[in-house]
Amino acid sequence: MLIAQITDLHYRIDGVRLFDAVDAHGALVNAVKHLEALTPRPDAVIVTGDLVNDGDDEDYAALAGLLSRLPMPVYPIPGNHDRRDLMRRHLSFTGVLPADGPLRYAVEDHPVRLIGLDTLVEGQDGGRIGGAQLRWLDDTLSAAPERPTLVFLHHPPFRTGIGFMDAIMLEDCDALADVVARHGHVEVVACGHVHRAIQTRFAGTIAMIAPGTAHHVALDIAENNPAAWIAEPPACLLHLWRPGNGIVSHISYIGDHGPSMLFG
Ligand SMILES: [Fe+2]
Ligand SMILES: [Fe+2]
Repeated sequence: MLIAQITDLHYRIDGVRLFDAVDAHGALVNAVKHLEALTPRPDAVIVTGDLVNDGDDEDYAALAGLLSRLPMPVYPIPGNHDRRDLMRRHLSFTGVLPADGPLRYAVEDHPVRLIGLDTLVEGQDGGRIGGAQLRWLDDTLSAAPERPTLVFLHHPPFRTGIGFMDAIMLEDCDALADVVARHGHVEVVACGHVHRAIQTRFAGTIAMIAPGTAHHVALDIAENNPAAWIAEPPACLLHLWRPGNGIVSHISYIGDHGPSMLFG
């Protein structure tokens, strides 16, 4: 099974540039084309939050038009820039978003179980899972201990060293670690939010952050650095699972970055 992960689309409609610089519409068009052209084709696409930048209705409508073109199932969760009501309204085609409450769910249709969490706290940039959702996660993981599972959430539950992003990380990271540590079948905890590819050991498994499909956070490892954004090659993650081999995660760059084959 191949699971593609795209994140932090920060979508705005065609013709509007984020910060007068980033063509988020063009970036998503490129990401969709990339996913459509991959061989083998991913079996599912998880979208780990910050789907749009400003929470506008027209942005969600256009975003839905692009994501619904994908021939494989699409599983979105919210980030701090998102709105639950508009996600429910425009992304119902995904078939996974609950009618009320947090936008969290388990997908049972694949060899790898996919569990999406909702870390959105309206009105703030940092994230929180909350006690009720953590109990749901514990119960949901307990229900199928034999099945390899990928847990995805927007806010990473670990410090990256990039100070201004660590200030808005997941608040209840220790409580999440307590739950995940009880379930050895969690293969990967996959996140977004930091717009960079970053990995760490976490609660007996691996936690990773996917690079963004639009703009990136500058690699400035300092405690008190100012927020800084940079244009780097957009990319997604491809989580490959094969029986007996766990999950292996690859970075797949989007777009043309030079000759396709230097040797051979
Ligand atoms: Fe983001
Ligand atoms: Fe975010």
